Amino acid sequence: VSNNRVWSLLMVVGLSTAASGVSIAAAVGSVSGVVTDSSGQPVRGAIVKATQGMKTVARYTGSDGRYRLPALPGDRLSISVDAFGFAVATKTATGGTANFKLSDQMDLSRLNSSELRYLIPEDNIPQLRVYYECGNCHGLEVPVSRSGMPVEAWRGFLPHMSGYRWGVNFFSDQHSALVAPWVAELFGPDGTMGPNAHPDYSKVKHTPIRDAALKATITEYTIPSRGAQPHSIRVDTATDMVWFSDYDSQSNNIYQFNPKSESFREYKIPLRNAAAHTGAVLSDGSYLVGLDSQEKTPIKLALAKPDGTLQTVEWAGKPRGSRVVARDPSNQDVVWVVAGPETWRMNLKTNERRAYQNPKPKAFPAGSFAGRFALPGDEPNSAGYDLTVDSKGTPWVSQLGQAIIFSINPETGETKMYNQPQMVSARGVVADASDNIWFADYYGHKLGMLDTKTGAVTMYLPPNRYASPYGVSVDKKRGFIWYADTMPNNVTRFNLKNHEFVEYPLPTANADARFVGIDAQGRAWYGGFFNSQLGVVDPGDTAGDQLATSR
Ligand code: HEC
Repeated sequence: VSNNRVWSLLMVVGLSTAASGVSIAAAVGSVSGVVTDSSGQPVRGAIVKATQGMKTVARYTGSDGRYRLPALPGDRLSISVDAFGFAVATKTATGGTANFKLSDQMDLSRLNSSELRYLIPEDNIPQLRVYYECGNCHGLEVPVSRSGMPVEAWRGFLPHMSGYRWGVNFFSDQHSALVAPWVAELFGPDGTMGPNAHPDYSKVKHTPIRDAALKATITEYTIPSRGAQPHSIRVDTATDMVWFSDYDSQSNNIYQFNPKSESFREYKIPLRNAAAHTGAVLSDGSYLVGLDSQEKTPIKLALAKPDGTLQTVEWAGKPRGSRVVARDPSNQDVVWVVAGPETWRMNLKTNERRAYQNPKPKAFPAGSFAGRFALPGDEPNSAGYDLTVDSKGTPWVSQLGQAIIFSINPETGETKMYNQPQMVSARGVVADASDNIWFADYYGHKLGMLDTKTGAVTMYLPPNRYASPYGVSVDKKRGFIWYADTMPNNVTRFNLKNHEFVEYPLPTANADARFVGIDAQGRAWYGGFFNSQLGVVDPGDTAGDQLATSR
């Protein structure tokens, strides 16, 4: 199936481009200014963003309240300023200076999901279940925006919720009936986060931005298909091309984004509700992605090629779809795939394939999320979530709620499970340059490291108490781990040398970013799963590395 629909950002904003691809249209010069509160004091760490057509550029204010935005094409920019405890301020500018005076505002609709989390008592298991269950797919900002429905309305709504977008409903009638009263305790007419609530905002702790983040520039592009849900971002470090899956069943796409021309190329997947999840860039520059589809079909993976064509990869007799593809760094023809209770090894050159059975614990491990929140009848299972392959070709697979990471011996198929009581969950996993496995403890709000030689686990605490690391990626050259930090709406960088975290708050609310990709310049690309943005965080402190790379 070939598809060559290409969107160019420059086309969309109505500019003409010369044959060389250089814009010849007018640009607004850079805009700068100062952000203060109502008494004239500078506001530090406010997000100032300028939007022009499909492109948004954002920076943070320094401790003097000052910001400076880079020049953007077009002749008018809409600028908005967003800071904790203040109302959003907006202005239209044509360049030069734009100062903002913010007015105080504390409102549930202005809090991100990790801030809302402070309003749930630590011992209220049903309400915590609602927080984490809903947070499996989106933050509490989403139900807060629809608060006020009584129990019966929630009970009727939940069984259809995901079906609207994914063609698949994840909440059974029975489960909806169980959780609807707890949902209504939070988001009902008289709920603690309902329309009549007077929350105690003194409980809500805002995590201040680190000084190291203030040098960053964040750019976002609105993905052309309406309601796009970019799930996982992968960057081809040889060509700079950015690949991502669009989970939304209305578009059912894979996209390639070219950062130089700022244009998107769309690949239609010829399978209903394909649920394209997480892929890997292959040595020839194509992108192989797992399809988490529940359809009865032999189609398991999609392969998007740089020439604009797409092929499907089939494996008949396998009951369900697949999710994550990871390359074997010790053999460029081999990929490993997470596929429910199995993990697959596929040699793309010889077409040899082998399916390995995942291990299953006898009981939920102590301290694990699955153990703590188990409902009657819940049993341990063998489903894998994410996967990474170490330098010797050994795959490491995570089991999300069971907080297990297991390895597979590719020859014997023997598996080995790793868990420690301080692990609450294991979502994204990635092997670093020393073959340690870094993992996202999504439900435990931490970043973890498994020493594969000793089996010891070390947990690292991010500045945000309710951080929720999702997908993790490594920048081996510079020694950083990056992760999408879903509930606080951040992308976060962790320094492998001094263990310092730098959280970068994202410019558009409710991103629900999932898997990040790192480019050759050390920038982190993320997808706004619930706001349809493709974004990139340029930390602004790796310029020396950039020079070194281009020499
Ligand atoms: C399996 C994934 C999943 C889970 C878990 C989930 N949601 Fe959703 N939810 C979705 C999707 C997908 C949408 C978007 C639907 C759409 O755009 O039509 C959504 C949308 C919503 C909306 C907004 C509808 C609108 O029109 O604005 C509300 C409210 C909501 N969810 C509440 C909840 C609550 C409460 C929970 C937890 C009890 C929850 N969700 C758990 C997937 C999920």
